[in-house]
Amino acid sequence: MSERVTVGLAERSYDILIGPGLIETAGAEIAARLPGIRAAIVTDGNVAAAHLARLEAGLATGGIPSVALTLAPGEKTKSFAALQEVVDGVLAARLERGDAVVALGGGVIGDLAGFAAGIVRRGMNFVQIPTSLLAQVDSSVGGKTGINSAHGKNLVGVFHQPRLVLADTGVLDTLPMREFRAGYAEVAKYGLIDRPDFFAWLEANWQEVFSGGPARTRAIAMSCQAKADVVARDEFETGDRALLNLGHTFGHALEAATGYEGERLVHGEGVAIGMALAHRFSARLNLASPDDAARVEAHLQAVGLPWRMSDIPGELPDAERLLGYIQQDKKVSRGALTFILTHGVGRSFIAKDVPASEVRSFLEENHPG
Ligand SMILES: NC(=O)c1ccc[n+]([C@@H]2O[C@H](COP(=O)([O-])OP(=O)(O)OC[C@H]3O[C@@H](n4cnc5c(N)ncnc54)[C@H](O)[C@@H]3O)[C@@H](O)[C@H]2O)c1
Ligand SMILES: [Zn+2]
Repeated sequence: MSERVTVGLAERSYDILIGPGLIETAGAEIAARLPGIRAAIVTDGNVAAAHLARLEAGLATGGIPSVALTLAPGEKTKSFAALQEVVDGVLAARLERGDAVVALGGGVIGDLAGFAAGIVRRGMNFVQIPTSLLAQVDSSVGGKTGINSAHGKNLVGVFHQPRLVLADTGVLDTLPMREFRAGYAEVAKYGLIDRPDFFAWLEANWQEVFSGGPARTRAIAMSCQAKADVVARDEFETGDRALLNLGHTFGHALEAATGYEGERLVHGEGVAIGMALAHRFSARLNLASPDDAARVEAHLQAVGLPWRMSDIPGELPDAERLLGYIQQDKKVSRGALTFILTHGVGRSFIAKDVPASEVRSFLEENHPG
């Protein structure tokens, strides 16, 4: 049984299908929406080993010929060099504008392949087949694509919505547990932004979400619906789509500070620590009760996620350097710091003009060094 969430963007609306076995039926689902096309599958080595052959067969069954481009796994693949490889691969396969780039992988592959789809021939069709929990609940939905620069994460990219998202819950069986947990941070994020009932449901049911079955499918569908609602309201992040960045200002700074080395910190782990810090910082600014910060920390700890800076192995740059990374983040406008802060669980808001001095003292107090 698959669930369906629709992202309502007028003529660019699209479906997200969530459930087991969708890789096998991918060809039929895609052909029903994009008849007569060919496809370039973009994937990484880990995902290709586990799922590429099944997707190629699934596409062929639906009458869609495909070529595959397999890249190195990891955040470093969100680079200009990898982008060029994908662009050249798609052109070498002589795909046309109406053909599709199909991302089969986690958020790295989705962001990279989506960017390539957005610029090759000024915009090709794009289909997301997310294979990590993070990609299923977050990065595959909403049309943000891009790569990293030496100046920071996600600084180069375009908005390019997919035509279809197929979240096959069966592929999560091969995902390493650490990656599953990291994706779970984004699931919890939706509760913390504005769905306190969902957060309470997760506190009660997280073990079933981890072990699979209907609770997992429910949590993914709930998360996709939460993201779809925000995206439909504010596609280009001129307003409250920024709420989705809860935990990400601190999180991105920590990812940059650890050199995007997945061994030390993966994206969702940075978000987990960032969400805990955002709640603790809100309490320090007397915007929320310290009890709410403690509740968030307790849940992250219960599921086995890192929640404080000292949980990151190795040394971190000092508070001043961390502040520098925060100031480089794209959510800084004209020098004023913009943070997603909270009045409590499920009551997040966009805070503009947060004084850098407050952030600096907070980082100094919480710094493990
Ligand atoms: N575009 C957006 O709106 C958006 C939102 C959130 C995050 N992101 C981006 O997403 C990226 C993180 O995504 P991610 O956590 O999926 O990382 P990822 O793509 O690197 O995947 C994590 C790891 O899991 C492996 N993997 C993925 N699926 C697998 C499977 N089914 N079986 C076995 N191994 C599998 C990958 O090879 C990789 O090693 C970051 O670059 C972040 O900036 C984008
Ligand atoms: Zn994220």
